[in-house]
Amino acid sequence: MSTVDYGLTTTKAPFIEQAQQNGQRFIEQPYELYNEDNQDTWRRLYATMLPLWEKYANPRFMEGVSNLMLSPDAIPRLEEVNKFLEPLTAFKAKPVSGYIPAYIFFDCIRNREFPTTITIRDGQKLDYLPEPDIFHDIAGHVPMHTDRRFADVLVQFGEVARGAAHRAQDMKCDSEEQRLAIVESNIKGLARFFWYTVEFGLMRKTPGSQDLCVYGSGLLSSIGEIEHSIVSPIVQRYPIQIEWVINQYFEIDHFQELLFIVDSFDHLFDLVDELHTWIEQGKMDNLAKGEPAISKLDLESFLTAEK
Ligand SMILES: [Fe+2]
Repeated sequence: MSTVDYGLTTTKAPFIEQAQQNGQRFIEQPYELYNEDNQDTWRRLYATMLPLWEKYANPRFMEGVSNLMLSPDAIPRLEEVNKFLEPLTAFKAKPVSGYIPAYIFFDCIRNREFPTTITIRDGQKLDYLPEPDIFHDIAGHVPMHTDRRFADVLVQFGEVARGAAHRAQDMKCDSEEQRLAIVESNIKGLARFFWYTVEFGLMRKTPGSQDLCVYGSGLLSSIGEIEHSIVSPIVQRYPIQIEWVINQYFEIDHFQELLFIVDSFDHLFDLVDELHTWIEQGKMDNLAKGEPAISKLDLESFLTAEK
């Protein structure tokens, strides 16, 4: 009986299925399992994205790509990426087998460890896919982690999540349902804010300028959406406002029709820091309903977070 070699292709990798069945959340990167198709997918994605990055990405991202010595020709080894990354911001990429419950994800980034997918998308369909893959995580996210201020933003997301978890655990509630509703709303707000900034954020090229560039990793790893996000007349682009973003649902399976603009990474840091106060004041306890759905595991991860 012949078996097809799927290598480490997203949703088809036996190695990942096995790790998930064994309950292994954090794994190694078994580099020898990438097959020639997987390597070819990386090469084609990189070659397609490079001119788009040069045109639309924020300059710190391009510096990151060069500081990390990412290869156009081969899927990166996480160990090697980390050799260049850790001395810059103490961040490192940490391989995972798939979905990570919300609090554990935020706690990892608070500790400067970025949960990183090691599979790569199917070469038949190069464009953005809802699941993260190594191109999204390593080529889309990690170059941004070489920037000190951006790295601080991620750590601050982790701090805000920690504050939310402890508050939800300690709060006097009339019922456990009420506690769950509050923590669900808090996670939703944080996930929305993360989505519209770290994943799909736009930034002004210079203070006050109408010229925009991309810093969101969902855009930086999508061959179709990066240009669309900057030039399409059907995309609404607005200066970011906390109260809007935390109440704004998002959907992950199509190009975004609404994007938010920050002035700088200092601006973004201040906004994330402010979320802490919003949570403390209860202003994120009853946000507008809608996407994203918060799973039972996400809720539990917050309510069982260590003190
Ligand atoms: Fe992402």
